[in-house]
Amino acid sequence: MDANNVNDNKKHIDQLFNSIAGRYDLINHVLTLGIDILWRKKAARQLKDILADKSVSRTAVLDVACGTGDMITAVEKAGNKYARNKRIDITGADISPTMAFICGKKHSAKYDIVVADVKTMPFKDSSFDAVTCAFGVRNFDDLNKGLYEMIRVMKSGGKLVITEFSYPENKLVRFFYNIYFTYFLPYIGGLLSGKISAYKYFCKSVKVFPKTEDFTSILQSLHLKDVKHKPLTFGIANIYTAYKP
Ligand SMILES: C[S@@+](CC[C@H](N)C(=O)[O-])C[C@H]1O[C@@H](n2cnc3c(N)ncnc32)[C@H](O)[C@@H]1O
Repeated sequence: MDANNVNDNKKHIDQLFNSIAGRYDLINHVLTLGIDILWRKKAARQLKDILADKSVSRTAVLDVACGTGDMITAVEKAGNKYARNKRIDITGADISPTMAFICGKKHSAKYDIVVADVKTMPFKDSSFDAVTCAFGVRNFDDLNKGLYEMIRVMKSGGKLVITEFSYPENKLVRFFYNIYFTYFLPYIGGLLSGKISAYKYFCKSVKVFPKTEDFTSILQSLHLKDVKHKPLTFGIANIYTAYKP
C-alpha cells in the first residue's frame, strides 16, 4: 500500500481496526493526552440546535464509523444537556465487527449498533436528523461514496458533524506535529497495541487526507448548505458542520 493510496483496501482497514480494537480507547487517550474526549464533546455540542428542537418529540442520530462508541457517549451527554424531556435515539455503524462489538458492550442496552460499511448502510433514505462521524472519514476506502451515503440517510434539514485530523497549516505547529507523528506516535501506539503498522498507517492517512479548505469544498460540492469548519488545538483537527438542504 503506498502513502498516496492508503485506504485502497477495504479488508485491510477492517482487519487493521479489528486488530487494535481491544486497546483502542486507552491508546487514543494516551496519544492525545485525553484531548480526544474534549474534541468529541465539542463536536457533539454542534448538535445543539437539532437536539434542542422542540418541534419534534424524537431526534434520531447516526454515528458513522462509531468505533468503540466514544462519540456515541458524547452525543448522549449533549442530548442530556440540550434535549431534556425528549427522546434521542442513537444508532452506531462500523465496518469492523470487533470495534462494533466493543461499542455494543458499552451501548447496546440503549442503542442500535450495527456492523456496516458506510458505502452500503442498511438504513432508509432520510432516516436521521443528524449524522456524526469522528475520526472515521479519513479511513473510508471511497470518501465520496461514504459521504454520499451519509447524506442519503439524513433528513432534509438534518445536520452533518464530521470531526477529523488535519495536517496543520502553521509551519511551527507542523514542525512539532511532524516530529510527534514520525518519531513518537507510531512507536507509542505500536508499543501499547503491538501493531506498529497500524499506527504508521494512522500517520500516513492523516497526511494524505484532503486539507481543511479542500475537504470543505468537497462538502460544498455535495450540495450541503452552510458548510463550516472549526479548528481544534492549533488546527491539528477540525470539526466540519453542514446541513442537508
Ligand atoms: C479512528 S476510528 C474512529 C472511531 C470512533 N469514531 C472514535 O471517535 O474513536 C475509525 C473507525 O472507522 C471505521 N471505518 C473505517 N472504514 C469504514 C467504512 N468504510 N465504513 C464504516 N466504518 C469504517 C473503523 O472500523 C474504525 O472503527
